[in-house]
Amino acid sequence: MKYNRVAILTLSDKGARGERVDESGPALSAWLADYGMITVKALIIPDEFDLIAQTLLDWAEQDIADLILTTGGTGVSPRDVTPEATMQVATRIIPGIGELMRTNSFKKTPMAALSRAVAVICGRSLIVNLPGSPKAAVENLEAAWPVLGHGIEKIRGDQRDCAGQHNW
Ligand code: MTE
Repeated sequence: MKYNRVAILTLSDKGARGERVDESGPALSAWLADYGMITVKALIIPDEFDLIAQTLLDWAEQDIADLILTTGGTGVSPRDVTPEATMQVATRIIPGIGELMRTNSFKKTPMAALSRAVAVICGRSLIVNLPGSPKAAVENLEAAWPVLGHGIEKIRGDQRDCAGQHNW
């Protein structure tokens, strides 16, 4: 794909303190590599609203990646603030990507209902939240993947008509 730069932000208090090895970031990176995506940045930070929002904004403003994935902090525990921090930097919201991820995830587990993941546009970057466990992160990415390439093309200003461009 033309737009092949991905940046991965892992949200984990324990991971940021070095008390847990980040398995989700590398799992996502490995899955994406099979589709020709290059991980240009991978970072672990704690579940801090301001830090998450600022990091996403910096990455989008610097245009370091076409796709920014977050993993972790989408659930319902008090420290889970990733969707709120992502919404803070959103210029536009894409509800359908979250709907697609949850619809597919329900086939695996009803717990999918507890992920509040959102997908938004910030500048020229597409930001997609994924849950924190490696299994859930990859399952959700897999569900969203069919629409991400076309979405990124459109966000980046592709003027061509959609019809006939893809085999859907
Ligand atoms: N989605 C899929 N496809 N597979 C899963 O195993 N786990 C769920 C949900 N989404 C899961 C899933 C669970 S148990 C939780 S608590 C939420 O994602 C939120 O995860 P997070 O807090 O790590 O972001």
